[in-house]
This record gives sequence, C-alpha cells and structure tokens, in this order.
Amino acid sequence: MTEPTYPPSEEFAKAAHIDAAKYEEMYKASVQDPDTFWAEHGKRIDWIKPYTEVKNTNFDMGEVEIHWFRDGTLNVAANCIDRHLAKRANQTAIIFVPDEPGDPVQHITYAELHEKVNRFANVLLSQGVMRGDRVVIYLPMIPEAAYAMLACARIGAIHSIVFAGFSADGLANRINDCGAKVVITADTAPRGGRKTNLKSNTDAALLHCSDKVRCMVVKHTGDQTTWIDGRDVDVLALMEHASPDCPARELEAEHPLFILYTSGSTGKPKGVVHSSGGYLVYASMTMEYTFDYHEGDIFWCTADVGWVTGHSYIVYGPLANGATTVMFEGVPTYPDAGRFWQVCQDLKVNQFYTAPTAIRALMGQGPEWVDKYDLSSLKVLGSVGEPINPEAWNWYNDHVGKGKCPIVDTWWQTETGGHLITPLPGATPLKPGSATRPFFGVQPVILEPESGKEIDTTEAEGVLCLKDSWPGQMRTVWGDHQRFQDTYFSHYKGYYFSGDGCRRDADGYYWITGRVDDVINVSGHRMGTAEVESALVAHADVAEAAVVGYPHEIKGQGIYAYVTLMNGVEPSDELRKELEKWVRTEIGPIAKPDLIQWSPGLPKTRSGKIMRRILRKIAENDYGSLGDTSTLADPSVVDDLIANRMNKG
Ligand code: PRX
Repeated sequence: MTEPTYPPSEEFAKAAHIDAAKYEEMYKASVQDPDTFWAEHGKRIDWIKPYTEVKNTNFDMGEVEIHWFRDGTLNVAANCIDRHLAKRANQTAIIFVPDEPGDPVQHITYAELHEKVNRFANVLLSQGVMRGDRVVIYLPMIPEAAYAMLACARIGAIHSIVFAGFSADGLANRINDCGAKVVITADTAPRGGRKTNLKSNTDAALLHCSDKVRCMVVKHTGDQTTWIDGRDVDVLALMEHASPDCPARELEAEHPLFILYTSGSTGKPKGVVHSSGGYLVYASMTMEYTFDYHEGDIFWCTADVGWVTGHSYIVYGPLANGATTVMFEGVPTYPDAGRFWQVCQDLKVNQFYTAPTAIRALMGQGPEWVDKYDLSSLKVLGSVGEPINPEAWNWYNDHVGKGKCPIVDTWWQTETGGHLITPLPGATPLKPGSATRPFFGVQPVILEPESGKEIDTTEAEGVLCLKDSWPGQMRTVWGDHQRFQDTYFSHYKGYYFSGDGCRRDADGYYWITGRVDDVINVSGHRMGTAEVESALVAHADVAEAAVVGYPHEIKGQGIYAYVTLMNGVEPSDELRKELEKWVRTEIGPIAKPDLIQWSPGLPKTRSGKIMRRILRKIAENDYGSLGDTSTLADPSVVDDLIANRMNKG
C-alpha cells in the first residue's frame, strides 16, 4: 500500500459488530448468494406478512424492474416506533437542538414520538389524505418534519420533502410533478439567526398549483403570516384534538415510501422513488454497520431532512434501529464555529456524520474552536456528499477524532437509498480520500467509458457502475419509468450507471473522481448545470448561458456561469446581482452562481454544440491545456473568454 493507511485499533475491532474477517466472510456470502443473504438480513425489520420471494431484479434495458421482498407486507412507521415501545418507551428517540443556543433542547421519547405521529397521521386522514396520495413536506429541521414523514408512512401516503432552501418555483414544480394533495409547511424557519418565510414561499408556489392542494401549517415560531381560510390549516391545533391512536396500515414491501427530487444532467429534476421494505432493511443495516452503532449510542447526522442523507440517517435508519437521533435546526457557524462541537459535548454524541464542506469551513476558523470542547464521547466520524480531501480528513481525524475515531467516508447517492461504498470502522484500514470498499451485496465495477467494457484488473480507472441490485435501490422515476431506464441503464448494457468517475487501486480500494455528466457537486449537493442554465436564459436580458463547475475551497465545486446578453443589453454589476437574485428565486440559494462571466460568444462547434470541455478548463484556470480548438466555428471566442476569465486564482 503506497498511501498512508489507518487500520482499526485492535480494541475497536474487537468490540465492533464487523471485524476484517467477518467483513470478508459476509461480503462473499452476500454476492455469491444474494437470495440467502438478504432472506436472512431482511428479518432485521418486522414484517406483518413474511416474504417468501427475496430478490427479483432485472437491469436489462427495456425490462428494468427492481423488486425486493415483494410478497411481504409491513409498516415502516411501526418498525420505527411501535416495535420499540415494549422495551424503550421512555428512551429518547429524537433530541431536537434548536437554532438559538439558549432555547431548550427537546428530548422526545419513543412513547411521545408514537403519540405525536399517530395524532399527525389522524390529522392527515382528516384532510382527506389516503393511501398512495402524495404529501409534499417543506419544513425546517424540526421534530414535526419527522412526525410528518412517519405519519405518511403510517397511513401509506407517499411523502416528498422539498429542502427548505428551495424557492417557491422549485416547490411549485415538485408539487405539480408528483400531484401532491397537500403541502406541509411552517410559518418561518430560523437558521443561523436569520429567518426564511416558508409560508410566504408556499403561498407563492401554490399560485402555480391546482387550487385543490391544501396547505397544512406548523406554527413553529408564531410569526405572523398570511392565512387563507378554507385552504390553510393549523396542524398543531388539529393535532391537539386528534386521537392519539391511528392503526399502522399494512403495506406491500414495494409500496413507495417517498419521492425525493434530485438533479440530473437535464433541466428537470427527477422524482426518485424509494420502496418501503427494501429501503428500510438497507437504511437500518447500513446505519448499524457503517457507524458501528450500539444500543444506547447517541447518533448525530448533521444533514437536512430535505436530502436523502437526512431521510436515511436522521430518520429511517436510526429509528428503525431504536437509536437516539439528533435533529439540529441550526448551522455549523452560528453563533460561532464551535457550535457542532459544543452540541457533541453537551449531548455526548457517539457517532457524528457530516460533509467535507462543513469540515473545510470549520477548519478555516482555526482549531481553537474545536479544541476547547470535550469530545471524548465520539467513537466514529462520518463523511458524505463529495470526496474528502486529505487535508480536511487529517484535520477531522486530528482535531475532532483525536486520532482515535475511524472516519467512514461513505459513497452513495439519492438513488441508492443507503451507503454503497464505505469503510466499516472495525474492519477496514482507512486511506484518506478513499471510500474504500463495497458494503454487503454491492458489486461495483469500473467500465471503460467509451467501449463500456468491464475492466477486470484490480487497478482500474473509468466510470463507476453497479453490476447487481441491492435492497435500497430506487425503483423508478415518479411517473416516468422510461426516464429511469434511460438515465441509469441505457449507457452501459446490464449495469446501473452511477454518473461518477472512479479509480480502483492495487488494494481494490475505490476513489471517486467526480461526476462524468453535467452535474456539479456544490457543498455536497447535486446541481444540474442544465437547471441553472435554463433559469438564467429565462431572464429577459439573457440570450444564452453555459454553466460549469470549478474548484472552490470550501464548497468543493463552485458554479461558474458564462452569460451572453441580448443584443443591446450592457453588462453591469447591477445586472450581475440581478441575475444572482434571479437564480435564487428560480431555484433557490444553493444554485446561485459564484462567478458570472459576460461572454459575447461561446465556443461552439460548426454544428452549434457548445464545447463545455473548453469552458470547464477556463473556469478551472487551466487554459494551458485546452486541446484541439480547431473544430470551433470561431476559435477567437476562446481568447476573449481567457482574457476575461473570472477565476484568476
Ligand atoms: O458524485 C457523488 C457524490 O455525490 C453524488 C450523489 O449526490 P446526492 O444524490 O445528492 O447524494 C449525496 C449524499 C449521498 C455522487 O454521485 N458523493 C456522495 N458521497 C460521496 C461522493 N463523492 C465522493 N465521496 C463520497 N463519499
């Protein structure tokens, strides 16, 4: 092994669920005979009617179908709550940490969670929500978000969470795409000492939706908002009067649990559909093994429930395992850069799971912010969302983990439901920057990008695909199974295409090298460049736009937009600000371009295709290696772009 490696300590490995020998044994069993392996591990959750069929999956283009445990029935909410009551009614299920440090932390027991979710479910029923109906959730990181998710699961409604950072337009598009019957929102959302008015965003969104959509409002801050009688309902008031009993509905394993929209290489986000049975088995199993979760541990995943990480590792995975999970409303730097570590100290957090972008931001504030807190409760640290650069890894390891906590760098996607490539902390020697090796049942392969041929040498570099299914895999794109097949199964016959590039080293370790499609990764969040482009060209002053990623110190990648203005429109700083604001309104703050370059011309081939490769190189400030530009319709465009480039770093 050439890179530095960090094997688990003997002591850690001894106490862990999975050590190196067990990993090898279980991994082999999982890929040699998936039916037997998953027949056994599917039993980790409670089934109403046990399954007899385990795996029924097909990756062949035109015939793609993915079913796991198909004839079994269950209820996800009952698995996350009711089945724990006999043993842990009084154990804390959720610790809610509000944005404002002085505000009281809430400890919600499993018994309380049961009552809240039942009441919430009855409120949904009273609003006419039935099995299979879609419910859009547009909430801050508050316990009601978890209640709403589990209430849907209890009655068989399908939730679709829209991250509270998306704009009214983003919300409207999602409500319309899934045909939601209700949207659940809050009055205002405090975050980092500032407030977002979610209710007014929702009001604006609903102007573009069917007038049948009902609006359920959680009065969280009590701030004044508009109110439309007959459409808006006060959830908390209704919960008070609702019955605390709501039977958990028996649902098929393949009943959709949720839809979550994610960006792809085309302009329109896709509604990723996840199942009930396979998803829960996979989320709970990865949560237990990847983090080496043990009974009584306090688990904190800092993601937002608006992303898949929050679904699988704040709500479903931890609660299915009867864990205590932390929900944090705030941000890492408010009121100061010690907030994460103070919460870890105060709550005695055992497993801490965050994103490289947060680590880099905190690293920049200096080690004193972390060094002053007692972090001795920490056992395992996690990373997710993008490759973690060795500098951030080392800082995380030295200052947060004090050299004694394994760091699990988990590679996965919205589509995969749970971790696919990840170290297991008691089993896997770590290499900073590598997601290491596959989880049980996962068969990664590296293909030659052009030929699609599987590279069978250990050392390999190419595109990352999956050879076979795993229970947490997405089942379809909401309302468009063809798009599901086209996106993931048409590029390479018989494989699931991840969209990521990857290198496998001599030890069989996987190193993700980034997206190979037109998707960029901004602060661990996926953004389709086409989505930002279509927002920009929707502005009256913009004739054309091309968006690419460029290396950004904190965010991983920043958004670089080349904008051609309409004839007669003069570029100005005001217009630049106006366009930034425009994109925030069209999509949301996360899509705001970091750099906008006025580009009188874009490099195009004679057939009119924009040469993005050239734009990427200029944005990366790497224009010495532009390659062949002779095929361009007008090669002089490139000189102008280089002369006026925005990233001169
Ligand atoms: O490019 C990979 C990157 O994030 C993409 C998935 O994004 P999303 O669906 O938003 O889910 C993020 C949280 C699971 C992947 O295609 N990615 C995610 N985790 C890692 C990563 N890249 C490198 N290392 C990781 N650990």
